[in-house]
Amino acid sequence: MVGVGIDAIEIHTGKLCLDLGETFAPEMGDDPDKYRKGLGLYTSSFPDSYEDIVTMGANAAHRLMKRTGRTPADIGRIDVATESAFDNSKPVSTYIAGCLEQVFETTFHHANKGERKFACIAGTQSLDDAYNWIRAGRHRGRSALVIATDTALYARGDAGEATQGAGAVAMLISEDPSLVELSPEQGYGSADETDFLKPNQQFPSVDGKRSVQVYLSRMREALQDYESVAGDTHPDDFAFIPFHTPFPGMVRKAGLLGYRHVIRDTGVEEELAAEIGRQPRPEAFDDDQTYLDAVSEYTDALKETTRYQEWYEQVIEPTLNISRYVGNWYTGSVHVARASALKHALEQDRELTGDRLLVASYGSGAQAEIHTETVQDGWKEEIAAFDIDEHLDARHDITFEEYERIHDIHNHDIKSEDVEEFTTPSDEFVFDGWGRMGERKYKFVSCKIKVI
Ligand code: HMG
Repeated sequence: MVGVGIDAIEIHTGKLCLDLGETFAPEMGDDPDKYRKGLGLYTSSFPDSYEDIVTMGANAAHRLMKRTGRTPADIGRIDVATESAFDNSKPVSTYIAGCLEQVFETTFHHANKGERKFACIAGTQSLDDAYNWIRAGRHRGRSALVIATDTALYARGDAGEATQGAGAVAMLISEDPSLVELSPEQGYGSADETDFLKPNQQFPSVDGKRSVQVYLSRMREALQDYESVAGDTHPDDFAFIPFHTPFPGMVRKAGLLGYRHVIRDTGVEEELAAEIGRQPRPEAFDDDQTYLDAVSEYTDALKETTRYQEWYEQVIEPTLNISRYVGNWYTGSVHVARASALKHALEQDRELTGDRLLVASYGSGAQAEIHTETVQDGWKEEIAAFDIDEHLDARHDITFEEYERIHDIHNHDIKSEDVEEFTTPSDEFVFDGWGRMGERKYKFVSCKIKVI
């Protein structure tokens, strides 16, 4: 059976940068370490006034197609995952295809286009849709373009404000991929939850603390479900574990609980027993609370062991390198985590071909999904072509007043007069005003000119 997976990947970051410790924390009256150490975030990305989910997605997709020499004829499907859509009928993928048709000589009229919604997990669901389409033999030798694009803004003053971000990830899904092959096995944890939702509103209603617990519960279910089809997992099975990363502190919690789960009944648990005892088993306790207290005590002790810390440093920490500087990108977040880990491996000159990743996606509302990916022998060339550092370095730093202005510009309820841009677009798609039916219009700007 020919493998199916991610052939190429490109990331587009919003072009503005807010320093959370230096600029945001003092205005909030917070200790900068709440952001840097607690949440694990240093800076976040914001879209300039001429950027939105369409421009970011189209710019990532354009770079990906140009770099890999693809034309519209090579693409049979364009799926966009977003939870920042501005239209209840016309999908963002049509806008993105329209943008791309401005710069290619041929069209995407033959391509199936759609939009996926399930909070942050929609990016992975789109990947799954593309995988299934190819596996079903309906692709006629073509690839799918999957684009996860979001402007993850919270209402001003919401606790989630510190975790905002904006950017897009474009992925080419093909047979015999260069980067990673997806496993047919998947595990799900899914339940009707009201932790984070946007009932016909732009900014989310969030029960932040509860959302953390819901994330952990659904993730545990997904891992158990995955193991029920793929067999037990072991911490040494995976080179990296990219998680959905709303902020790195969330992954710190998920990584520890995941590790505790996968070492149960393994030699690792036995080795650690001399230092911290064995994991509590429910049958040894008279009531649930005493059992849960014992589990919590064991988990605290596990976190302090050298064995766990070395594992975390190697398998989880590298997945967070980009996220710390861009914030939550919702649908793109887990795909940024994968890219971050592979980039780290390349910089460390590690050989990864044949190694596996455990990819742990999550979307509020709520659902977690776990699958594995096997790194392919083209990974080094693919990741070497990745220029995310340049894009991050090129971001324009904004002051707090500028942050307030840009938040208003992207707030659909505010008609902002002041839409002057902070950066000058070059070789990219930009928002170009409104059409007669309220549609958004876009144009390609091929060299540095001021947008008016
Ligand atoms: P908060 O109340 O502002 O922060 O909200 P906190 O007081 O809980 O502090 C955060 C951490 O910083 C804590 O660490 C503090 O101890 C620590 P923890 O105890 O959790 O390990 N801290 C410090 N550390 C060092 N030095 C200091 C200091 N001060 C505090 N001086 C909250 C946090 C997550 C609730 C908020 O940011 C929020 O509401 N975020 C939005 C929701 C969210 O991201 N949830 C995550 C799970 S749900 C999800 O991932 C889905 C999502 O992506 C949406 C989708 O699927 O579409 C959000």
